[in-house]
Amino acid sequence: MDRIGVVGGVALQGEIAIAGAKNAALKLMVASLLSDAPLVLENMPSVADVGALTSVLEELGVRVTRDADVPGRMCLHAESITSTTAPYDLVRKMRASVLVFGPLLARCGKAKVSLPGGCAIGTRPVDLHILGLEALGARIHLEEGYLLGEAPGGLKGARIDFPMVSVGATEHVMMAATLAQGTTELHNVAQEPEILDLAECLNAMGARITGAGGPVIRIDGIEGLGAATHRVVPDRIETGTYIMAAAATDGEIELLETNLDHLGAEVCALTKAGVEIAETNRGILAKRANGRLSAVDLETQPFPGFATDLQAQFMALMAMAQGESHIDETIFENRFMHVPELMRMGADIQVHGGSAIVKGVERLHGAPVMATDLRASVCLVLAALAAEGETIVNRVYHLDRGYERLVDKLAACGARIERLAD
Ligand code: EPZ
Repeated sequence: MDRIGVVGGVALQGEIAIAGAKNAALKLMVASLLSDAPLVLENMPSVADVGALTSVLEELGVRVTRDADVPGRMCLHAESITSTTAPYDLVRKMRASVLVFGPLLARCGKAKVSLPGGCAIGTRPVDLHILGLEALGARIHLEEGYLLGEAPGGLKGARIDFPMVSVGATEHVMMAATLAQGTTELHNVAQEPEILDLAECLNAMGARITGAGGPVIRIDGIEGLGAATHRVVPDRIETGTYIMAAAATDGEIELLETNLDHLGAEVCALTKAGVEIAETNRGILAKRANGRLSAVDLETQPFPGFATDLQAQFMALMAMAQGESHIDETIFENRFMHVPELMRMGADIQVHGGSAIVKGVERLHGAPVMATDLRASVCLVLAALAAEGETIVNRVYHLDRGYERLVDKLAACGARIERLAD
């Protein structure tokens, strides 16, 4: 298994082009199942999760091609669905594959999809996805670890009030409802920019969706969707991560091809902590305002609140800030796995359930550390970039799932970082 070696202490200087958002790209790929015409996606990130989902879609009969001449361009053509079963071996590699269930039901009237199971950051059930699809008239039951669904007469529009906000359930039910008979109204939905992006792509394919990006989404079902070309929204989590890399190392990085509007709560917290974030005519410039960072309290929330996907990276900053920071993780029950690893680098952190108290130290020190999930891994890379001495981050495959060319992008800004093959 590959590892990453980092020698810390270099102030990063340079520019980084931000990729398309992984968490938008995956759902956009799934949307291709809803139409027998081609869907062309531009600005697709080159990350392992996209490869894993490609295998799932190919299993169902989708033709997936990359354009060798245009980086980031992918064509998905589900002219005919040859199988309505997504097997365990493929789904377990990437949880978002479960989202093929609703589109298969909507288009083919039946689907059999493995339940993805829990993962390192929490149990992550799919009860809200099932609640929404059942409300659209699907009959769903669980058999031997598989979700089995039928909607022989097609799905029917309905009003659905989600008891809690879920990104995946919102996207799943929104996609399925595009082909339902009649109107669907989804209340208490997630408002992440990736949801608006998905709705815009579906509308370009001919769907009739309004309200995405707000708390209520209305979908007027139609018989079939058509062809479209859509550009994936920039990755706000990658953007936030590199803003924090500049801050952690007391460097200065300009981020290109991104959008600051998607980072409201994060910019607020980072500014309070002493990070200067300014719009330039090409993107965003990030650096420390002056001297050491200050401790800031934080609570993760659904968008527009502070993103859980940036909590670990922010904790790496707080570990070296002046003062004591209280960090509450409210989205996932087990998303502090980076804490023991940061402590091996000299951080002073106490965890009580979903809350962490971080007492900033003057300096972190390099150490061998183990990554447990995507964002925990990148938090360790940030800590390593700022630490004294050498850090080896093990289990790099987590990073490959969601960060495109991380080592190259950081090295281009002067980081002493390399990938070490075993
Ligand atoms: C998406 O996961 C993202 N994944 C996650 O990104 C992100 O952390 C999360 O949204 C929150 O922003 C993708 O987009 C592929 P949820 P998702 O449904 O859709 C509970 C990353 O690092 N819940 O909004 O699975 C759930 O357990 C990651 O890129 C139910 O109880 O998140 C969690 O506590 C990891 N029942 C909360 O809701 C359900 O049916 C929010 O989950 C569904 C969710």
